[in-house]
Amino acid sequence: MSLKDDVLAALLQNRGKNLSGQRLAESFGVSRAAVCKAVASLKEDGHKIASGPNRGYLLLPESDVLTPAALLPHLQGCIGPGQLTVLPVCSSTNLCAKELAMAGAPDKSVVLAERQTAGRGRRGHTFYSPPGGLYLSMVLRPRLSARQCTFLTLAAAVAVCRAAEEVCGVQPRIKWVNDVFFNGKKICGILTEACADLEGGSLEYAVVGIGINVWLRREELPEELRGVVGALYEDFPGGDVRCRLAAALIRQLCLLTQAPAETLEEYRARNFLPGRDVMVLNGARTGPAKALSITDEGHLLVEFPDHTTLALTAGEVSVKEQNGWTC
Ligand code: BTN
Repeated sequence: MSLKDDVLAALLQNRGKNLSGQRLAESFGVSRAAVCKAVASLKEDGHKIASGPNRGYLLLPESDVLTPAALLPHLQGCIGPGQLTVLPVCSSTNLCAKELAMAGAPDKSVVLAERQTAGRGRRGHTFYSPPGGLYLSMVLRPRLSARQCTFLTLAAAVAVCRAAEEVCGVQPRIKWVNDVFFNGKKICGILTEACADLEGGSLEYAVVGIGINVWLRREELPEELRGVVGALYEDFPGGDVRCRLAAALIRQLCLLTQAPAETLEEYRARNFLPGRDVMVLNGARTGPAKALSITDEGHLLVEFPDHTTLALTAGEVSVKEQNGWTC
């Protein structure tokens, strides 16, 4: 670890308390000037540190910069420091994770970014990725066939709900197949990309990419997203909520991808589509239908007015609300 990492770790352990520059210098066996330089560099990275003569250094309660030092204590050993890449900015964490996977990164390697410049959504859409969100991709090397890959997306949606419950005390719901909603708005999107052995059909690796809007001010959202996109918080909630949420999400992803049957049950229980009137916007068939259930394969079973049923494997469905079709 560099001196900068050591100073950050000490500040994180004493969040909200003054730490003397002299003491820090002594405990790391360096000069006070070196500590001062490390703090200046941490401030440049966005950490909110108050300092002043005779006051030492104080990491303010609202400092919430994603760093390995801030995350590792919350990960409870589920992944090691070598499996964690944290970037202030990147084009797309999925792209970055795929590069790591191709270079041989181990199972459960994680890439996190403060913001993305070219966040990727499903069907070639872009994913709006400003600061205040959490953009995370995990490399997985499960023993699954390429067809069973849907399961990873379902597990990721459950992991998001569990992490939000644990850290924010709220209960988001899942909209099949891979959107997470809170207060009627989409707060999270998931994009799973896989590389399979075409002959054997087995999965070489998968990258599960998750984007969560942790806090977003409505007025800062692009106009066209205001009706559909929401966040866990409508303003900065204070504290290190993104760090704790990221760590909880990683822990849950590690757990859930190992227990398919239980995960599918929980996915069903957290899903709000079964029983609802939906508009099917699928290549095979389009029109109003009733969402019946989620099959063991993770498909959405719908019934059309002529009583024919169809198991949707992908594609979009809109939900019927009082004043029309939404999301
Ligand atoms: C969607 O709703 O269309 C899926 C959005 C997935 C966004 C996440 S953010 C982290 C990861 N990196 C990306 O470029 N995309 C996924």
